[in-house]
Amino acid sequence: MIVTLGAHRAARAVVRLALPLALLTAGVTAAGAQGEVNIYSYREPQLIDPLLKAFTDKTGIKTNVVYASAGLNERLAAEGQNSPADLLFTVDAGRLSEAKDAGLTQPIDDAVLKGTIPAQYRDPAGHWFGLTMRSRVVYASRERVAQDAITYEELADPKWKGKLCIRSGQHVYNTSLIATIIAHKGEPFAEAWLKGVKANLAHKPAGGDREQARDIYSGKCDIALGNTYYMALMATNEKNPEQKAWAKAIKPLFPNADDRGSHINISGMAMAKHAPNKANALKLMEFLASEDAQKIYALANNEYPVNPNVEPAEIVKSWGTLKPDPLPLENIAKYRKKASELVDKVNFDAGPSS
Ligand SMILES: [Fe+2]
Repeated sequence: MIVTLGAHRAARAVVRLALPLALLTAGVTAAGAQGEVNIYSYREPQLIDPLLKAFTDKTGIKTNVVYASAGLNERLAAEGQNSPADLLFTVDAGRLSEAKDAGLTQPIDDAVLKGTIPAQYRDPAGHWFGLTMRSRVVYASRERVAQDAITYEELADPKWKGKLCIRSGQHVYNTSLIATIIAHKGEPFAEAWLKGVKANLAHKPAGGDREQARDIYSGKCDIALGNTYYMALMATNEKNPEQKAWAKAIKPLFPNADDRGSHINISGMAMAKHAPNKANALKLMEFLASEDAQKIYALANNEYPVNPNVEPAEIVKSWGTLKPDPLPLENIAKYRKKASELVDKVNFDAGPSS
């Protein structure tokens, strides 16, 4: 069952009605039924549906999903120990840490998860686990950018003046990247860097990552920052075929490939503090980290599997080799607030001439 939320209020009503019914059904057929798992997901249904279907086919355990683009942490907190949620699915290590820090998760010490998910991509205390990786790379114009290597630091070089496009500095994808610059180079460097990047902007930060590729296509800028999977989303977009041309106009450059590696972030999962179906939820966590599920992730989402035994999709491999920055992801949580403050301090979102 998937509940897609337009408004949190509506969702609460739906879940109040739907979950007790589902639980009742499970109870009635207790002898033969395998039970269920309740998921609160910030990840879109089309991304996780195939995985949950494979899990149910394999185990007989049903999954109930509440999807929302915002407000699920708040809802978990408000529901407290009466919450039906077993698992939280979200994107970004910073958001996973926020759920942990808010006391909404519980630690899981599980040999299967530890064995399949490298330590770098999970919380040291077991509160959250990465499932997929994405890198924040430079989209460079195939036509106008000759170089095939770049660093994040170089984005502040005046040679890019008027040529750089980016979405809002306050978006979590950017504050996470800026957090890693602070972690590696210190705050004064990060501030100066951010000022340099701002000075190079072609126009005010706006749109999503795909709009930056669009602006490279139309000649408004030469380089931009974007997540890897959007390149696949654009290149294969039958619904909005104009995006195929945007994808063709850019080449991905993996920043800092010759030194510390490119910034990566994760999508991941956490066990809710008051999970009523903990044993089943743990089975789902183990399944999602397994090779079978990681293959589905790799093909459906064009993200990088965290399970090192599973290869990325062909289109992902065609972009070249990703060398991930080995900085532990908890640094992102640690410095993200500071990163957000720096974005405001340099007035980044006001654009180049302010
Ligand atoms: Fe995204």
